[in-house]
Amino acid sequence: MDLGLEGKIAIVNGASQGIGYAIAGALAGEGARVAMSGRRAPALDAARDALTRATGGELLAVPGDIRRAEDCERIIAGTAAHFGGLDILVNNDGAPPLGQFLDFDDDAWRRAVDRNLMSVVRCIRAAAPHMKTRGAGSIVNITALSAIQPIAGFGLSVATWAGVIGLAKTLSRELAPEITINTLAPGLIDTPRLRLVAEQSPDEMSELIRDIPLGRLGDADEVAAAVAFLVSPRGRYITGTTLAIDGGLSRATF
Ligand SMILES: NC(=O)c1ccc[n+]([C@@H]2O[C@H](COP(=O)([O-])OP(=O)(O)OC[C@H]3O[C@@H](n4cnc5c(N)ncnc54)[C@H](OP(=O)(O)O)[C@@H]3O)[C@@H](O)[C@H]2O)c1
Repeated sequence: MDLGLEGKIAIVNGASQGIGYAIAGALAGEGARVAMSGRRAPALDAARDALTRATGGELLAVPGDIRRAEDCERIIAGTAAHFGGLDILVNNDGAPPLGQFLDFDDDAWRRAVDRNLMSVVRCIRAAAPHMKTRGAGSIVNITALSAIQPIAGFGLSVATWAGVIGLAKTLSRELAPEITINTLAPGLIDTPRLRLVAEQSPDEMSELIRDIPLGRLGDADEVAAAVAFLVSPRGRYITGTTLAIDGGLSRATF
C-alpha cells in the first residue's frame, strides 16, 4: 500500500535511537523529508547518517532538548525553514524516573511535567500554525501502556501522559478539521532503554513477557508502522484516539 507520504515534511523528536529512530526511518522510507531531534549531537548525527544510507531519504539532524521551551521552538522553526513547511509532528523522548510517590518532591514533578507534558504543549503550539497554513497536518504522541493501565512506581509518567492523552482528545476537536492528532501507548518494545531494564532485572522481564498474549516483545518497527499509517493520508479519518501497541498486554476492554 502506498501511504502517500512522498515529499511530506516531518519532525520526529527523540530520534537518535529506539522508537523515535524507527519512526524516522519508516517515514523517510515512505519518501517523507524528516527532521530528527535528540540531545546528544554525535549520536543524532550517526543516526541520521545510518537512516540516510538505509532509506536514501532526506533527513536533517536538529540537536535539542525538548524539556526546554526555546529548544522546542527552535527545532520546529528550524525544520519548517529548512524544508519549507511542516506536515507531521511526532512527540517522543525518554521518560521521567520510576519510584515511589512519597520520594518525589515538587522539583521532580516539575521536571516530569516539562519533559512529558510541556514538551508536547510547546511543540504542538509551534507546529500547528505551520500545518494550518498548509491546510493539513498530523500529530502523534508517544506515551506508554502504563498511562492507560497504571503500574505502581510509574506515577510521574502515568500522570503526565494522562495529561497528554487528555490534551490530544481536546485538540482533536480544536485543531480539526485540518489537523489530526492521535496517541500511541506502546507496551514492551525492544529498544536500548528496555534492554537496560532487562539487563538489570532479567527475571522480572521474563515474567512480564510471559504475560504478553503474543509471547514476545514488540519491535520498534511495529510501532513505527502504526505511526506511518496514522500520519498518512490513508489514516486521515482517525483522530482523537489512543492506540495500545502491546501484543495484547492490556487487560482493558476498551
Ligand atoms: N521501549 C519500551 O518498551 C517503551 C514502552 C512504552 C513506552 N515507551 C516510551 O517511548 C518513548 C521512547 O522510548 P525508547 O524505548 O525508544 O527510549 P530510548 O531508547 O531511551 O530513546 C529515547 C530517545 O529520545 C531521545 N531523548 C530523550 N530525552 C530527550 C529530550 N529531553 N529531548 C530530545 N530528545 C530526547 C534520546 O536521545 P538523547 O538521550 O540523545 O536525547 C533517544 O534518542 C519513551 O517516552 C518511553 O517511555 C517505551
